[in-house]
Amino acid sequence: MTIRAVVKGVGHYLPQRIVPNAEFEATLDTTDEWIVSRSGIQNRHFANETETTSVMATEAAKAALTMAGLQASDVDAIVLATSTADLTFPSAATMVQANLGMKNGFAFDVQAVCAGFVFALTNANALIVSGQAKRVLVIGAETFSRIMDWTDRGTCVLFGDGAGAVLLAAEDGAGTAADRGILATDLNSDGTHRDLLYVDGGTSTGTTGYLRMQGNQVFRHAVGKLAATAQTAMDRAGVTADDVDWIVPHQANIRIIQGTAKKMDIPMDRVVVTVQDHGNTSAASIPLAMSVGVERGQIKQGDLVVTEAIGGGLAWGAVVLRW
Ligand code: UT7
Repeated sequence: MTIRAVVKGVGHYLPQRIVPNAEFEATLDTTDEWIVSRSGIQNRHFANETETTSVMATEAAKAALTMAGLQASDVDAIVLATSTADLTFPSAATMVQANLGMKNGFAFDVQAVCAGFVFALTNANALIVSGQAKRVLVIGAETFSRIMDWTDRGTCVLFGDGAGAVLLAAEDGAGTAADRGILATDLNSDGTHRDLLYVDGGTSTGTTGYLRMQGNQVFRHAVGKLAATAQTAMDRAGVTADDVDWIVPHQANIRIIQGTAKKMDIPMDRVVVTVQDHGNTSAASIPLAMSVGVERGQIKQGDLVVTEAIGGGLAWGAVVLRW
């Protein structure tokens, strides 16, 4: 008998304000055509003052709990992936815990930038298979609009805000790839690439700082590393490209998503794509895409799903799960 961490619910929250590419044409030397052709992004949501990371995370968590038919008091742990917590501390996860009225269990943030949700899922899976928790809320939530340099056309047109969450619960499995739940994971990082993507603020500067990115350099790393980590996780799970029903990739750039799918030998009609509507929401992008993919009727119970993401660090990884 094998303990599996099975998705029982999923949900998301998007800020009310939708910003089309055309809005940037008024203030920047850019065009809708450039943004769409280079990134695939058409719209993104930007949070208002009250839509903080923890507030959006709470709404996504409530939606996941509702789908799972559970109360906050049923949850043992909250693992929240973010690089844009409301405050330096306490963690956004403990703020969500308080918002949900949860007096039990424990909560903490995971910081692996755009790969954060893959790292959070892997940590939550470890808590469940080791018997330390039975039900875990895994959340990705970001307000990257708060760390944008609005004069830098190379970054500010690419990112958006939002939150997504899944409720994982322990279930007995047979230990085969036919089990529901997380089947395999793969995590990687290489700190020598820190200058490719970072925020120029923190305790060393006393400021929040702005996101800085050498986009084309990150791009060069992305497809190869994403396809490799996905393959490693698939090998560990004992599945092949033919078995995969859906790739749910990090939504940074449609060209990266297409290039990775091609390298994995999986056609685009088996890829959940939301980048056109959300932009790059960093750690929120995968749970947002999972939630939208379920809403659209794409992802169904029993489907084999591969998630993959790369971001600042560099940090990257993949998770293979049966929905
Ligand atoms: O999620 C975390 C990981 N991040 C990513 O995965 C992002 C990875 N990178 C990318 O998605 C792409 O590299 C970008 C979308 C950021 C850029 O696309 P690119 O095809 O790599 O373009 P580039 O950076 O090589 O820039 C091409 C040109 C440059 O002009 P010159 O030097 O050729 O004259 C840029 O200055 O496009 C220019 N440019 C723009 N032009 C119009 C950069 N931003 C803009 C803009 N509007 N917003």
